[in-house]
Amino acid sequence: MLATALRIEAADGCGATVSDIDLARVSDADVATLRQALFDHGALFFRGQSITPEQHIALAEKIAPIDVNRFFPAAPGYPVIAKVEKTAEQTTNIGGGWHTDHSYDIAPAMGSVLVARDLPPEGGDTLFADMYAAYDTLDAETKAQIAGLRAVHGSDHVFGEKGVYAQTDQPELAKGGVETPETVHPVVIRHPGSGKAVLYVNPSFTLRFEGQTREESLPLLMKLYAHAMNPAHVHTLVWEPGMVAIWDNRATWHFAKNDYHGHYRLMHRITLAGCELEAA
Ligand code: SIN
Repeated sequence: MLATALRIEAADGCGATVSDIDLARVSDADVATLRQALFDHGALFFRGQSITPEQHIALAEKIAPIDVNRFFPAAPGYPVIAKVEKTAEQTTNIGGGWHTDHSYDIAPAMGSVLVARDLPPEGGDTLFADMYAAYDTLDAETKAQIAGLRAVHGSDHVFGEKGVYAQTDQPELAKGGVETPETVHPVVIRHPGSGKAVLYVNPSFTLRFEGQTREESLPLLMKLYAHAMNPAHVHTLVWEPGMVAIWDNRATWHFAKNDYHGHYRLMHRITLAGCELEAA
């Protein structure tokens, strides 16, 4: 199958919008184009799609092997699709803080493919922040301060038996007995696909700098986080029915807004396997 004449246009702040493509039938050449665009832009947004769970799985598998998330409940009948769901009765959403998926893993997820299945009448947007820009726009002194630093990441404080979700009305996300060792990654990584330097710490899963306590680490972490949240480098994705977003977890953060209480929202997520990360 020949590549279609898909169009890629940079989106405000972070990511790119891809049009003139049907994700239900992508060619190998399209996938190669999309993968490169993902590495370059960090996130890709597709309007007007209508893919089945089977087509969602097929699309994900063309991009990378699937890395099944060990905390999220699966969509009924589809063990590789994670359900990102909030009912009209619940007050806690999933992913409602800045994060990048699976940074607590030794080989963090390369990306995620999210499909809108059921949207609230308004709200429920997802924010994406550009971590290439976050690094590039740091001042020289901060770049020198973080060069060579490594950071410890973990998931117990979020998904553990005593973690954040255990205290909420989404307690099924809290998993006792799931092996979640802490993991160390460079603070500035060389992106495995683009070769560019990326800031790789995030507010949800980064615990501290290696060799420092959390208290010692917090001032610099908070400074990096505030810098990375610069609205100039953030895109607000307003979902439409059937829409798909694919993001690169090494190049972006994301944040699911929780501003639609009393309404149902269901997204289907497939996480894509990545590799161990090297310092820039
Ligand atoms: C996530 O963090 O993967 C969920 C994003 C969303 O629901 O918009």
